[in-house]
Amino acid sequence: MKFLIVGASGFIGRHLLAHVRSLGLEAIGTQARSRVPGLLTFDLLQHRIGDCVSRSFFEGQGPFYVVICAVISDMDLCLTDPVRAHAVNVEKIIQLIEDVRNWNATPVFISTNYVFDGRIGYYTEEHPVSPANAYGRHKAEVEQYLQRNIPHALIIRPDKNIGDDPCEYHFFSTWYRLLTAGQPIVCIEGQLISPTYVDDTARAIVMACRMGLTGVYHVVNPEYFHRDELARQFCFAAGMSPSVICKPISDFHFPDNRALKAYLDGSKFRRTTGMQFTTVREVMQRFMQKVRQMET
Ligand SMILES: NC(=O)c1ccc[n+]([C@@H]2O[C@H](COP(=O)([O-])OP(=O)(O)OC[C@H]3O[C@@H](n4cnc5c(N)ncnc54)[C@H](OP(=O)(O)O)[C@@H]3O)[C@@H](O)[C@H]2O)c1
Repeated sequence: MKFLIVGASGFIGRHLLAHVRSLGLEAIGTQARSRVPGLLTFDLLQHRIGDCVSRSFFEGQGPFYVVICAVISDMDLCLTDPVRAHAVNVEKIIQLIEDVRNWNATPVFISTNYVFDGRIGYYTEEHPVSPANAYGRHKAEVEQYLQRNIPHALIIRPDKNIGDDPCEYHFFSTWYRLLTAGQPIVCIEGQLISPTYVDDTARAIVMACRMGLTGVYHVVNPEYFHRDELARQFCFAAGMSPSVICKPISDFHFPDNRALKAYLDGSKFRRTTGMQFTTVREVMQRFMQKVRQMET
């Protein structure tokens, strides 16, 4: 089993690459603008995958997986720079999918809960997609392409990923920096999320590939929180008095829409794989343990 991870300099891709290699499996990771040692440079807007990765990587003992983590994830940029964002998130991703199809590799597309508009919430894989912003529409377009053309593809929909490393960029590291600077955590009122440990997402992707799963799976922690409640719990875990401000979404003046309740029902994946997810409390504890280690 071999993996090509496209977008391995990003949050999920980085953890996926580390997990795959920790299992002794062969993997190549790509980056676009980052300069992480050991990653190949592959920019969807400039290169074809065959220019950067030798086809011979996918010779020998299969199966072969190409995990697509590459994305322009800035939701407002997807609206304000629509040509570039659509090119990266849709057109060039589809070109990549077609290129690796000729290599006999299975695409694993990392999609998003934003394929739903968040009016209903707790979505299953059976719910029809209903994206409310450009980013969600891009993801839904690629999902639809895969469902029509590559039925053995795997589509993973994560919700908000969280980490335990204070040096990485995610909710907890951002919130900890704000709190230590004496600033409040400002949250969108009424937003529900299933914060999922990034290493669980990495583990789940590999597990799904090992089991030969195809089709759509929601890969999420079964716990879900209002964003402001999660922030409050984080303050408690950090030993600080809660400093959380909740504002209606209209106060943020986002150029594009945000989903309020795009949290997912992940029971299909858990039932199929038996995978247990790390609780948010454990992730917070690990995060604080690492903070203390850094401070001593
Ligand atoms: N993180 C979450 O909470 C979350 C939640 C739901 C869904 N997802 C989905 O999960 C996937 C991974 O998310 P993430 O958080 O790891 O994203 P991320 O941290 O923003 O990383 C994005 C990756 O895409 C690469 N990339 C950007 N533009 C590119 C281009 N033109 N050509 C090739 N690569 C390009 C980046 O490379 P450089 O940095 O080197 O430029 C980086 O490796 C995405 O599809 C995202 O939609 C993530």
